[in-house]
Amino acid sequence: MVSYFTATGNSLYIAKQLGNEPVSIPQIINNTDLTFEADKIGIVCPVYGHEMPKMVKEFIKKATFKTDYFYIILTYGMLHGGAAELADKYTKSVGKKVDYAKAIVMVDNFLPNFDMVEQCAIDKKIPENLALIKADINSKKRMIEKAGFKNKMIHKGYMAMVKNQDETVWSKFKVEDTCVLCGTCTKVCPVGAIKLTDTKAEHTMKNCQACYACVHACPTKAIKFTIPEKNPDVRYRNENITLDEIVKANNQM
Ligand SMILES: Cc1cc2nc3c(=O)[nH]c(=O)nc-3n(C[C@H](O)[C@H](O)[C@H](O)COP(=O)(O)O)c2cc1C
Repeated sequence: MVSYFTATGNSLYIAKQLGNEPVSIPQIINNTDLTFEADKIGIVCPVYGHEMPKMVKEFIKKATFKTDYFYIILTYGMLHGGAAELADKYTKSVGKKVDYAKAIVMVDNFLPNFDMVEQCAIDKKIPENLALIKADINSKKRMIEKAGFKNKMIHKGYMAMVKNQDETVWSKFKVEDTCVLCGTCTKVCPVGAIKLTDTKAEHTMKNCQACYACVHACPTKAIKFTIPEKNPDVRYRNENITLDEIVKANNQM
């Protein structure tokens, strides 16, 4: 059994490579019974500020995993900051055990820092890295990827930077008049935080995961940041994943 959280398809793509019919966490998080039993149970999710998304943490806390082998694969873009060790630490803190945790580099969808054209042009050796992860999981390798000195320093610097920062700074969006009220943003949001008004879509902070699914999926690029971004004219979705798959994964309407 493989479950996943995705905004732009990277984690869904990896989840599909690791198991048949992966299960979307936003679609099951509110189920009354979150007990899962399987030979292997895995979670695939993006890295946000070196950590797992809030909803994935909540899922791990609430769920019961009856398995001999529990693994977490973290998709990231440029600097994972020790994401596997941090995921292991969090999982232990809620009384559960991870057998294998590893990060895999993909296109970085963090629009404030990265231009999607530049990101898509980088060969991140995804097939090669994925093959290694698949082999590890097939053989039930038990390992938590070490952060290493560089990532530890990066994480330390990041924590100092965000210490006194309003965390909503990364997810305050404005919707421009180019919004055509198509409703795509409302359907790709994993927490139903976007509503349509008579004139345009409206984003609310309520439970926003700062995943950027709405920003990336808007066909007219009407959803913009209130902080500078690298290239407001280009958005991203994993080339192997359709918009329909993102909607099926996240739709709360
Ligand atoms: C709010 C936010 C924070 C992110 N933080 C990091 C980070 O700390 N390090 C990193 O390498 N990538 C970071 N990323 C990039 C994503 O982890 C990466 O693109 C991921 O593969 C996206 O997965 P998805 O397509 O399944 O949503 C961040 C992305 C977002 C939206």
